[in-house]
Amino acid sequence: MKHYYIYILTNKMSTVLYTGITNNLLRRVYEHRNGLIDGFTKKYKVIKLVYSEDFTNPTDAIAAEKKIKGWIRKKKIKLIESVNPKWNDLFPQLEGFFFGGTKNDIKKYYSKRASEYEKVYHREDSNRQNELRKISKALQSAMSEKNVIELACGTGYWTQLLSRTAKSVYATDIVEEALEIAKTKKYVCPIQFSIEDAYRLSFSDGTFDGGLANFWFSHIPKSKINTFLKEFHRVLKKGSSVFITDNVLVKSIGGKLVKKPNDENTYKLRKLKDGEQFLVLKNYYSKENLLNIFKKHVKNFSPKNIFYGKNFWHITYTIN
Ligand SMILES: C[S@@+](CC[C@H](N)C(=O)[O-])C[C@H]1O[C@@H](n2cnc3c(N)ncnc32)[C@H](O)[C@@H]1O
Repeated sequence: MKHYYIYILTNKMSTVLYTGITNNLLRRVYEHRNGLIDGFTKKYKVIKLVYSEDFTNPTDAIAAEKKIKGWIRKKKIKLIESVNPKWNDLFPQLEGFFFGGTKNDIKKYYSKRASEYEKVYHREDSNRQNELRKISKALQSAMSEKNVIELACGTGYWTQLLSRTAKSVYATDIVEEALEIAKTKKYVCPIQFSIEDAYRLSFSDGTFDGGLANFWFSHIPKSKINTFLKEFHRVLKKGSSVFITDNVLVKSIGGKLVKKPNDENTYKLRKLKDGEQFLVLKNYYSKENLLNIFKKHVKNFSPKNIFYGKNFWHITYTIN
């Protein structure tokens, strides 16, 4: 759904008020702030965002802009103070909303989402369910009789399935709330849990002979993929099996896809049950992308190592 915004900017002393309209609020305010728009706002440094309103219909937005522009100053002040009584600059908040992606965002998002997370596995879609079953089978076969480290295990959905065939599992995640839910489940093989950052694991080299990372790869900034894979492989012995699965981009699922200027990553705009919104880094890869990434880290990696479905992909390989 397209959005249209009306906004009010003011200057340092709040003596001037400027009302504008745009379909890209972040970019427009950024342009005002950086003197990229010639005219009144640039001349008088009217760059502090004190009010904005979101419309999905352009006619309504134009009418609202016209109405506010026709108001006397006192009425405009009343409108601003109805939502922003201290006349705070709303740009940093806006920037956070659209651009997010700070180091802790994903942690915060998953700690808040832990209790509702597993709904993603129960969508009534037979194609998705079929692919999930295939993943589960392939995973159980790859990890059979292995001492497995699972990264970013979340609430333990895959941990449970994995535990049916693995020898032992060390299930790790950075978010305590997710691990607490995982700990309440029943597992078939011996299991341990610990808080771990997937980029900096606390285990010695070659501790495990199986490695699993499901629905985590897409959250790795592209610039950190090499660091991540080196660290993952470091804790695995020669001959270990690795299993990684993640989403194929399906436009209708998982929120709006957001791109930022000069950023190679993509993001998803996600809304939790309580209405809080997050911009979560989420990258999608084609089969060819995966091949190019993994052949740099895995000897003899070929298309045969990749299953590429309509909803999910998974890869299986051996550390050699
Ligand atoms: C999409 S969920 C996947 C959970 C689980 N593997 C699954 O497939 O159901 C991504 C997980 O990554 C975890 N996570 C985020 N940043 C992490 C990091 N730096 N190290 C380890 N886990 C991380 C989140 O807490 C979340 O549980």
